[in-house]
Amino acid sequence: MRTGLYPGSFDPVTLGHLDVIARAAALFDRLVVAVLVNTRKSPAADAEARATVVREAVAESLPGLAGRVEVVVFEGLTVELARRAGASHLVRGVRSSGDLDAELSLAHLNRHLAPELDTVLLPASAEHAWLSATYVREIAAFGGDLTGLVPPAARRALERRRG
Ligand code: PNS
Repeated sequence: MRTGLYPGSFDPVTLGHLDVIARAAALFDRLVVAVLVNTRKSPAADAEARATVVREAVAESLPGLAGRVEVVVFEGLTVELARRAGASHLVRGVRSSGDLDAELSLAHLNRHLAPELDTVLLPASAEHAWLSATYVREIAAFGGDLTGLVPPAARRALERRRG
């Protein structure tokens, strides 16, 4: 069984992330989506909340994949999680040449740490190439319309957070 690991912040999960999840799930028997705990930025509970939203988004928006896509929270090196999960490949989405530079560096470093682990870079679909979680957070903070940017589960979570 081939397992892929898609790590990220998912703060929040966007339609671009869901597109990568759907396309990566077509390449592997099992896809583990790992939500990063960044202790410098936010507590672990925050990552748990983000993972819950990713789980809901996969269940609602990609129901056919629910049995093959697993969402976990992780703290530490991605390569360690990949080894524990039995993943053969990491998956990352690339929107632009700026992304590509950063992703190449990450892929090379991860391969240095774990030579058995390779990275698959998926070009973002054209309709999501401009979509960024950072701007989504900004739009949400000012009460802007999130239609077409995030799945309903993320919109509900952002609206709850805003109160
Ligand atoms: O969605 P993001 O913020 O672009 O994801 C970045 C992420 C989580 C993939 C990256 O920061 C990561 O892998 N962090 C875990 C620690 C690690 O393994 N760093 C890479 C060492 S070369």
